[in-house]
Amino acid sequence: MSGSKESDGFTVVKSKGRNRKSKHNNTNRTTILAEKCESLDIELNLKKIQSAQEELNQSEFIKSFFELEAIKECSFEEMYCFGLGQMNTIISRFQTAFLLIIKERYSIDSKQCFVYDPVHCQDEKSLLEKLGFTVLEENTKCKQIFSKKSLIILPHCPKELTNNLLYENYKSKTVTNIILISNSISNVILRTNKEDLEKLCNVMQGVENAELVKENPIKNSFKFDDIFNDLSVHTFVQGDEDFLNKMSEPDYGDSDKELI
Ligand SMILES: C[S@@+](CC[C@H](N)C(=O)[O-])C[C@H]1O[C@@H](n2cnc3c(N)ncnc32)[C@H](O)[C@@H]1O
Repeated sequence: MSGSKESDGFTVVKSKGRNRKSKHNNTNRTTILAEKCESLDIELNLKKIQSAQEELNQSEFIKSFFELEAIKECSFEEMYCFGLGQMNTIISRFQTAFLLIIKERYSIDSKQCFVYDPVHCQDEKSLLEKLGFTVLEENTKCKQIFSKKSLIILPHCPKELTNNLLYENYKSKTVTNIILISNSISNVILRTNKEDLEKLCNVMQGVENAELVKENPIKNSFKFDDIFNDLSVHTFVQGDEDFLNKMSEPDYGDSDKELI
């Protein structure tokens, strides 16, 4: 398998203060953070995503994904995806195709399929709307309560998003409504240094230690090794009062991490 470095049909401008490069500690790729797209060839990218959808639909990867125990018999009222990244890249093209396949498989209405990435420009938002997604405008940083059966997808996203999501939904006792596809929580915990663990992953770590999360790793058999790698399907059980009392609200201070 190989990586998928390509982008086309667009102009980028660097957003203020966040134009550094960051290496995922769980992959060998370099990700350009928060480079903002100024304009995009919407029709061209629409076609590319549709053909990516056809290709992905025929792949062994998607077949084995839908056979995973955690999602095989599921139904979802809504789907949320945060952090797709720049829409002109092969990575987001196939990740968007993945969302479209899931949307179709579970017959989730466009009004209930939400996407958000703070780096998206107007053309990227228009492209996503044309594809049948509802583009969110507010940056909640995943501090949202999910009271419906929800599939939440955070493809290679900042740890803080998962940490916030878990904090809010443990606190409101809605966490069993969520199925989360994100970087493997156990791998994140293994690979994060002590200081970042305490600062950025306090809730994730508590949930893992209390054995409240079940992980189904997604086997990455796709032709590119940097699009669906290190992802797991996570399901959660609600913690008892003792767990909730010990859980503290995340406070990232002004740590200059990947979260926008
Ligand atoms: C490492 S990139 C991942 C991009 C792509 N999904 C991938 O797999 O390469 C992390 C993404 O998270 C996005 N992000 C950062 N803060 C966010 C927030 N508050 N809400 C949603 N997405 C956010 C960034 O803009 C970036 O596109």
